[in-house]
Amino acid sequence: MRITVCPGATAASAHVVRRIAAALRRDPSLVLSLPTGRTPIEVYDGLARLVARGRLDFSRAVTFNLDEFVGLALDDPRSYRAFMGRHLFDRVGLPPRRAHVLDGAARDLAGECARFERAIEAAGGIGLSLVGIGLNGHVGFNEPGPGLVAATHRVKLTSLTRRANAKPFGGDPRRVPHEALTMGIGTILGARRIVLLATGRSKARVVPRAIAGPVTTWLPASFLQLHADVEFVLDRDAASRLG
Ligand code: GLP
Repeated sequence: MRITVCPGATAASAHVVRRIAAALRRDPSLVLSLPTGRTPIEVYDGLARLVARGRLDFSRAVTFNLDEFVGLALDDPRSYRAFMGRHLFDRVGLPPRRAHVLDGAARDLAGECARFERAIEAAGGIGLSLVGIGLNGHVGFNEPGPGLVAATHRVKLTSLTRRANAKPFGGDPRRVPHEALTMGIGTILGARRIVLLATGRSKARVVPRAIAGPVTTWLPASFLQLHADVEFVLDRDAASRLG
């Protein structure tokens, strides 16, 4: 496990941009898995800037998003699909057939999860997975509980997660979907390399538990400790309780 502490969120994001850019230059058909949320926005901005300057090429890359809300239409601006379009896909010219996002509006949600797993396998597996961490230690939408599911599946979101995701829903957690689809913890750990980015004081309590606490289903990010090639990229605020 590698831990990189950067002076601020901008420096931490720039570090992750360098990691992704180097991996993509080495392997132009890299398979990435990507998160949503506040944290990766600066990373996506940095990648888009490199593409705009002709210093990075996404035309052969393949991406799989970690998760999506259940019940939002494909073109709903509050969906993670729309978020990814705005922040990354449209800016780096990633064609929709190479940018895989779970369809939370699919009629057969179990079938959609199985299709997603098959698509990851057909792409040759995930080369680099960028993940964030929820306030309760979730990765993707794998919420804490008595057990975890290995493969992509449907989940019920906790009220804390719905509160944390309320912004695009007018700040009202009651309007946040109650369910989501998420890559399972096994799918995430199946990536050849994982980079977790956490920034800001709000993550200071959960980060040490993920890095050095017991591996427990009550803190899904702790399972990343089991991976052979994982890097935790933190800013000083997120690392402030690491000791
Ligand atoms: C959401 C996403 C996660 C993300 C987490 C942290 O619930 N499903 O994939 O890592 O929240 O988000 P933020 O970066 O906004 O703190």
